[in-house]
Amino acid sequence: MQTSWIPFIPPSASTLSGKVDALYFYLTGVTIFFVLLIWSVLTFFVIKYRRRSPHEIPRPVAGSHKLETLWSVIPFVIAMSMFAWGAQLYFQNSRPPQNAIEIYVVGKQWMWKIQHTTGQREINELHVPVGRRVKLIMTTEDVIHDFFIPAFRIKADVVPGRYTTQWFEATKPGTYHLFCAEYCGMNHSGMIGQVVVMEPTDFDNWLSGNTNQQSPAVAGQQLYQTLGCVSCHGASGEGGRGPALGGVFGKPVFLNNGQTIKADEAYIRESIVNPQAKLVNGFGPIMPTFQGQISEEQLVQILAFIKSLPAQGTQAETPAATATTTASPPARSASPEQDRQEVSKAKFL
Ligand code: CUA
Repeated sequence: MQTSWIPFIPPSASTLSGKVDALYFYLTGVTIFFVLLIWSVLTFFVIKYRRRSPHEIPRPVAGSHKLETLWSVIPFVIAMSMFAWGAQLYFQNSRPPQNAIEIYVVGKQWMWKIQHTTGQREINELHVPVGRRVKLIMTTEDVIHDFFIPAFRIKADVVPGRYTTQWFEATKPGTYHLFCAEYCGMNHSGMIGQVVVMEPTDFDNWLSGNTNQQSPAVAGQQLYQTLGCVSCHGASGEGGRGPALGGVFGKPVFLNNGQTIKADEAYIRESIVNPQAKLVNGFGPIMPTFQGQISEEQLVQILAFIKSLPAQGTQAETPAATATTTASPPARSASPEQDRQEVSKAKFL
């Protein structure tokens, strides 16, 4: 839909933006229609049924069930159409696709720090290729901020101690606004930047023009050494006194309390800052907390390193799975769908 002639409307530059606009135009259209309908009927009745003489007494009017049913059912159907349309867009937008490029975003009073998995870092700028799905994994060093790109019609809070995600696919090369959309202190209004959408070849050139920087996974590996993670989890995540980390990301983990959870970003972060919260089956509460010793940026780097570790031959942390003969070990599952099946199977057992 061509919307550039409408004043104040931001440019439309993602696969989502046209859909969001269409919903908003529908809401606006319905509102305008009913405003006009109600006002014209009101005006008509005021004139038609005006009091014509000072002694006039109106005749009582009988109610109509038909009419009342009609004016309840029609608005109900309209309201539900808004709900269904909005919910459908919401779910589409809140589930990042599997094959997206991942970019880490850390908010901080008052700037946006961005790290690409290839090592490039930017501040208050985000370079992305056109026509590729991009998933943002976001957190903050201090207070709540909100990562908002109006041209893509996406916006999500970044919350201390948590990872939130959002995704987009840019459709038009260009430079777009980036805002913080949550009041976060004195220079909140200055916490702005730009998103640069480039043709894929330009983007590749841009990436290769910044190669002197370490990828988050490599930086994470160094932290893994210097913080001493290596002494319990092994140099390549093969495990030891601590559970093996190789291939763990995205897979089900069996806990001491009998629960099974998926090793996602939030779980790995929690296991670093609050290791006692969820103990892997077969391991004691011996890991010290790294709360306060590690910044959010460093956490993101360790996360990238753990994600990059290859799966190990043996899976010390999954005794429940190896105990069954029918289920293959979850570490070897090939797809998220299979993971989910493994998880539900394990729960059932
Ligand atoms: Cu950060 Cu407002």
